[in-house]
Amino acid sequence: MKTSTQNTILITGGAGFIGSNLCEYFLGLGHKVICLDNFSTGHRHNLKDFISNSNFKLIEGDIRNSSDCALAVEGVDYVLHQAALGSVPRSINDPITTNDVNVTGFLNMLVACRDAKVKRFVYAASSSTYGDSQGLPKVEDVIGKPLSPYAITKYVNELYAEIFSKTYGLETIGLRYFNVFGRKQDPKGAYAAVIPKFVMQLMNYESPVINGDGNYSRDFTYIDNVIQMNELAITTQKPEAINTVYNTAFGDRNTLNNLVEYLKKYLSEFDPKIADVEIVYGANRAGDIPHSLASIEKAKTILGYNPKYSLQEGLKVAVSWYWDNLK
Ligand SMILES: NC(=O)c1ccc[n+]([C@@H]2O[C@H](COP(=O)([O-])OP(=O)(O)OC[C@H]3O[C@@H](n4cnc5c(N)ncnc54)[C@H](O)[C@@H]3O)[C@@H](O)[C@H]2O)c1
Repeated sequence: MKTSTQNTILITGGAGFIGSNLCEYFLGLGHKVICLDNFSTGHRHNLKDFISNSNFKLIEGDIRNSSDCALAVEGVDYVLHQAALGSVPRSINDPITTNDVNVTGFLNMLVACRDAKVKRFVYAASSSTYGDSQGLPKVEDVIGKPLSPYAITKYVNELYAEIFSKTYGLETIGLRYFNVFGRKQDPKGAYAAVIPKFVMQLMNYESPVINGDGNYSRDFTYIDNVIQMNELAITTQKPEAINTVYNTAFGDRNTLNNLVEYLKKYLSEFDPKIADVEIVYGANRAGDIPHSLASIEKAKTILGYNPKYSLQEGLKVAVSWYWDNLK
């Protein structure tokens, strides 16, 4: 894809956190963007800044329905597949629905892309695929056993993508996202991600509850780094860059205790009383791995990835967005 050429990009899950940011970015570059979403965890308000853009089209549909997938891929050059049910605890509570959406829905999309001869299928994979592998940093070729139904679905996605590349010649690239955060991430609901949930709680002077002693660590990845990886995945012309997976992360790790300290620091610039909110510690959560850190060497070397935002740099921007939009 050349940015001077207008392409048609289908973004499944385009009403969700990552998908809506991708929609906005590629519309900003002048491309046509189609969003396929069933609004199960996504929101119409995530689309409000570009819903009236003439290059944008919304298809309200479900990836579990193969005819919705076939309709959505008509005339499409590239697919950025984000639609899935996220959250490890959700998958433990309801493995059947998670599997239907994340595996059957994914397979429907692959079949639709093969039949419509799309140029490339780039999909949201997950760091959960590393499972119980102990080594740090995580390198793409060394994975462990999955620790949750969600992790199984994301690994099955990679297996299917590889088979579709080999069997039908469909170009695929999987991006193993590591704990993504930023504007538009949903702070509400039982399965909310930790950063927006803690931001909302701190803004309301409620104590965030850290599972465990706060020394578990994560490679927190700001949304703009993820957008950069998606763009590189659809623009790369190197044959060795396709039909594989890449860690999509910043390449550093911070503990949950570090995270809360930064959140309190940045939020108390808006409201000094937030500095006094106490942190509560609870039990460790099933399916959680103690530490996560990505090697981003493969993405740097092959794709030319150069992430701009560390956790702290991303949090400064994200916290300001949450203050303006949720307070
Ligand atoms: N956020 C992270 O840290 C993270 C980490 C690893 C992987 N991922 C993956 O990235 C992708 C996007 O995650 P997100 O954080 O933006 O989640 P999100 O819940 O905000 O977005 C998912 C979107 O998919 C839509 N969707 C769900 N089921 C659907 C269906 N059956 N048909 C059509 N649309 C459907 C939802 O309505 C929502 O808009 C997911 O595949 C997720 O597994 C996210």
